[in-house]
Amino acid sequence: MKILGIETSCDETALSYISSMGDLSSPTFKVLGTALNSQIEIHKEYGGVYPALAKREHAKNLVPLLKTIFKDKDEVQADESDVQIFLEREPELKENLIDFVKTHKKPDLDIIAVTYGPGLEPALWIGINFAKALGKLWNIPVIKINHMEGHMVSSLLQSKIDSFPAVSLLISGGHTELIEIKKWGEYKLIGQTVDDAVGEAYDKVARMLELPYPGGPEISKLAEMGRVKNVSTDDFPLPRPMLNSKDLNFSFSGLKTAVLYLLKDIEDVNDDIKLMVAKEFEQAVVDVLLKKTKKAMEEVGTDTLIVGGGVIANQYIRDNLKELGTVHFPTKELSTDNATMIAMAGYIAKLNGASPDLDFKAVGNLKL
Ligand code: KG4
Ligand code: ZN
Repeated sequence: MKILGIETSCDETALSYISSMGDLSSPTFKVLGTALNSQIEIHKEYGGVYPALAKREHAKNLVPLLKTIFKDKDEVQADESDVQIFLEREPELKENLIDFVKTHKKPDLDIIAVTYGPGLEPALWIGINFAKALGKLWNIPVIKINHMEGHMVSSLLQSKIDSFPAVSLLISGGHTELIEIKKWGEYKLIGQTVDDAVGEAYDKVARMLELPYPGGPEISKLAEMGRVKNVSTDDFPLPRPMLNSKDLNFSFSGLKTAVLYLLKDIEDVNDDIKLMVAKEFEQAVVDVLLKKTKKAMEEVGTDTLIVGGGVIANQYIRDNLKELGTVHFPTKELSTDNATMIAMAGYIAKLNGASPDLDFKAVGNLKL
């Protein structure tokens, strides 16, 4: 089955064309073409994602990205009235899309899978309306996908995972979740952050240290340097919030605030201090993630851990999680937001009997 995945929930515009095979116990995937446009440089100036800009960039970039995946030219009939209801507020996107469809061969494609939440609603809507319009023009069914399920299945591209139940740890800019996977498509949320997400804490601490957005990779570089240089963090002790709580929940807001208070007393936050803060902060994150994930695996009674989300691009976190059992990681490219994971989740949804639909809405705070 051939699937086109579409992802516009935050600051990456991404498309991926994949081929998928096998049943739910052993799905396999091959990427036939991908295209991704990151808006990081545009949002850097604002120190975070600026929704109106994200929306505009998605609308501008979708058709150019589509052209890099589907190159075969042809002359094709297309009825503009089919897409009017979806793209009436995006005249430029509508025009570009119709022009594309009229001049390109319809690809070998069975399903379009698109993220409908969680994320920034104005950004999500662009991807959704683009998917619906393209589905209508090509007469291809559209399936809506939860972005977090995308992160959850992202390691399936390189791993065969057939041992269930499993635990999934999802750590991104907006989420920190522990999930029991009974089988693909059957999930139970067993733990989550009660305040900030891990990636959010990384980004906020980075801002305190005057590092550029997104802060995760910046802090992680400094922390690594701090470990290599073996800098002492004795003068900068940070808490491990909820480390010993009986549940599987996390809290990262207190950790961020502790950094803020410690920095307040320091007149000159020089490079040495930044190394120390980054090293201790990352260690606090790792200690908490390890302990809670281990507890979750014990409670579920499994040795299988499936991780996903932008923060899992972090090598130190990966190396530590490896100790917990049979751990499945996505590649670095599939850790941060991408459309291949959305296409793969589309296949899983299809195997689970999801029915195509053109009536769904963006859901900013969508839960699994
Ligand atoms: O999954 P993702 O691309 O977008 C969301 O769905 O949120 O995750 C983005 C988050 C950001 O907070 C970013 O700072 C963090 O992932 N991140 C990292 C690293 N690379 C990205 N955090 C720590 N270490 C990294 N190497
Ligand atoms: Zn994400």
